[in-house]
Amino acid sequence: MHQILQYAQTICNDNLELKIFCPFNANGANNYLKPTNTTASSLVSETNFKTSEETLPMVEAIKNHVGEVNWRQTYSMSEVGEDFASRHCYFELIGPTGHFYNDAIRGFICYWGENLHYKWHSHEAEEIYYILGGKALFKTKTMTKVLKANETKFHKSWESHAMETLEEPLLAFILWRGKGLDKLAQIDD
Ligand SMILES: [Fe+2]
Repeated sequence: MHQILQYAQTICNDNLELKIFCPFNANGANNYLKPTNTTASSLVSETNFKTSEETLPMVEAIKNHVGEVNWRQTYSMSEVGEDFASRHCYFELIGPTGHFYNDAIRGFICYWGENLHYKWHSHEAEEIYYILGGKALFKTKTMTKVLKANETKFHKSWESHAMETLEEPLLAFILWRGKGLDKLAQIDD
């Protein structure tokens, strides 16, 4: 897990939007979270994500350490449906309940299979998406944009957003800061 953390640190140092969003302090204690699987987590290691020069090392590290990760699933079947629930998973790399402790930021690694619709949702914490691999259509009430590896998107506190994966799966690094850090997202529609 340390290797993934180190690559996340490198990306946060090298990418200006991430660097401005929050200081990435990787010195927090290792929480030694137990490895867990979800239905989707095995798909992560099987996928050939379209990466960029900047994201390839971190994507390879995640794929190589899939079995050490505490994978989670955010939403219930009734909220998002069985297909979404079985082809989406995430883990908290750094944060209050993450692999590495931090009380000022939260960093998630999230996977979505191809052709999934992530419903309109929101959360109090401010957020920045950084695409590690694949591409997807990102929506807010004011804009729609396709993002690919090494691109970012910022969401304000409680700004509702949605996302659609296209013909390929998506792997993203998501950072949260500010109030509501310890809460999760809620579905808006
Ligand atoms: Fe979000």
